[in-house]
Amino acid sequence: MRSHARLDRPRLQFAAAALIAGSLAPAAALAQPLRDLASGCGIGIGAAVTYSALNEPAYATTLGAELSVVTPENEMKWSNIHPQRTQFSFDRADAIVALAEANGMAVHGHTLLWHQQNPGWLTNGGFGRDEMIQILADHIDTVAGHYSGRVAVWDVVNEVFESDGSLRRSIWLDRVGPDYIELAFQLASNADPNARLVINDYSNETINAKSNGMYAFISDLLARGVPVHGIGFQLHVTTSGINVQSFADNMRRFAALGLDIYITELDVRMQLPPTAASLAAQANVYRSIAGACLDQPACGGIWMWGFTDAHSWIPSFMPGWGAALPFDERYAPKPAYDALSARFAECSAR
Ligand code: XIL
Repeated sequence: MRSHARLDRPRLQFAAAALIAGSLAPAAALAQPLRDLASGCGIGIGAAVTYSALNEPAYATTLGAELSVVTPENEMKWSNIHPQRTQFSFDRADAIVALAEANGMAVHGHTLLWHQQNPGWLTNGGFGRDEMIQILADHIDTVAGHYSGRVAVWDVVNEVFESDGSLRRSIWLDRVGPDYIELAFQLASNADPNARLVINDYSNETINAKSNGMYAFISDLLARGVPVHGIGFQLHVTTSGINVQSFADNMRRFAALGLDIYITELDVRMQLPPTAASLAAQANVYRSIAGACLDQPACGGIWMWGFTDAHSWIPSFMPGWGAALPFDERYAPKPAYDALSARFAECSAR
């Protein structure tokens, strides 16, 4: 098994906004954009981006000014990018990748395999093991191949564990068997040898049954030479926060396996409407999670699931909850923004 102390933080290719000529950035940039401050800490600050919002001027401007890593929120999922068995549809994801490149941002690809947002032809096809493997190989060769060299980090598999740490029941587990995971990593590594390949999940940030299961499973993959490079912690949390000590301990054990660590989908939801107290509590949660990442040398980035409350999955998926992101619905920075900014500023002060 690989087991080595890490000397350097994982370094992705992104630039500080200040260095980009002709980017979308300057107009709306606040005094010191988050991406410049985060870059001073050696990490990328990212957000999921939704294609339909890109034509809103405030959306594109704030994104380009403030963030250095972009995750297509839905556009790389199977139902969008592979709508028919013999048809791939790259236009929307291409537009997001091009925008990222024009703004010196790194791209976080999401995701090559999931149990949700799959097209009907796949879920209803009644395919057996061999055909499922062929389909998976075609998908990963084509999609990871299409973006080869342009995606810094791929979520190769997303949410493949149950909360008890066992493998999740899904079309992949049911029709292929547990080796679909190592197959996916091998295929991704062949299609894009330079991308960092990540196993991503939720509720795995502290030491619990799910993260224990992931730890055992990934340890076994690494021992057998499967090209897994990192673990993603989604971190969809509430203003009650998380046990930060347990998060730090958990990161430490995954880092000791030689893995990169990425916070991949951070948002901190509250019950609506927001109050001064809930906004302050939210700011504390953002700050403590960012601090835990910065304190762990293997942590390569803090990426949020959106950046403005104008476009967030929370209100429609968790009715009554929302206001989960550091910019409000009118793109004004919230206390959470100030907390991130202050925490990142500490890096350059050191
Ligand atoms: C969500 C998107 O934000 C929604 O727009 C979509 O309708 C459903 O998926 N974990 C993940 C993401 O890994 O892909 C999910 O994104 C949010 C939870």
